[in-house]
Amino acid sequence: MIHKVHHVGIAVRSLETALGFYRDGLGLPVTRRAEVPDQGVRAALLASGESEIELLEPTAPSSGVARFLAKRGEGLHHLCLETEDVDGELVRLDGHGVPLIDKVPRPGLAGRIAFLHPGACGGVLVELATPDGHDPSLPAPLRLRRLVVAAEHPAELGGRLHSLFGLPLQGINTGPRVQVDAGRVALLIVPPEQAGGSRGMLALSLQTDDLAAVIARLERGGRGFLRGAREITVEPASSHGVPLHISQPG
Ligand code: CO
Repeated sequence: MIHKVHHVGIAVRSLETALGFYRDGLGLPVTRRAEVPDQGVRAALLASGESEIELLEPTAPSSGVARFLAKRGEGLHHLCLETEDVDGELVRLDGHGVPLIDKVPRPGLAGRIAFLHPGACGGVLVELATPDGHDPSLPAPLRLRRLVVAAEHPAELGGRLHSLFGLPLQGINTGPRVQVDAGRVALLIVPPEQAGGSRGMLALSLQTDDLAAVIARLERGGRGFLRGAREITVEPASSHGVPLHISQPG
């Protein structure tokens, strides 16, 4: 079974430039960094509460991440769910006829990993990972709290994430939105008409205990953001294609 979001993967053109924002601009500590020749990427994981943010730069033009960048530009690429037994999960999913990219796990930055076919989860590319060893849990100034996804049929995708992975479905009374909880990260699924017609993974929300410090860091780095009440929205041009909402709980 799945307990939490291990990480959210972001496709970027340059890992070094993206670290300039996520590590230096936001202050997220790098937990791992490596080249993964098998996937044609160089990648880094950055701590963000109980989950992490993964930055992926393609090293081969034929890699999935290179094709994603050519088609859609920088932005949210995949969602990785953590399991204690990725081998067992794959056998179970395969047995249920779920389309898989990897029928056997392979080594990745997050441990032993495997990708489901995007068709398995309403167009969202889902990775499963069983971490190898224990990374120190690094304190981070921001915690990943929410991933917004647009899907043609939110209730159907929510039901699928619930039935495939046992993730609890939360009822939302206002309209067609659905929320699925994965550990401390909420997956908010909205219809495309509430997302400017977009489909797929749309935006991240993070929480901080010191919004003023985050704002000061972003201003020092000359990053663009919009201010709200106890909340800011970083412009996607600064955050490598990812609308980023950062709030401080009241
Ligand atoms: Co990943």
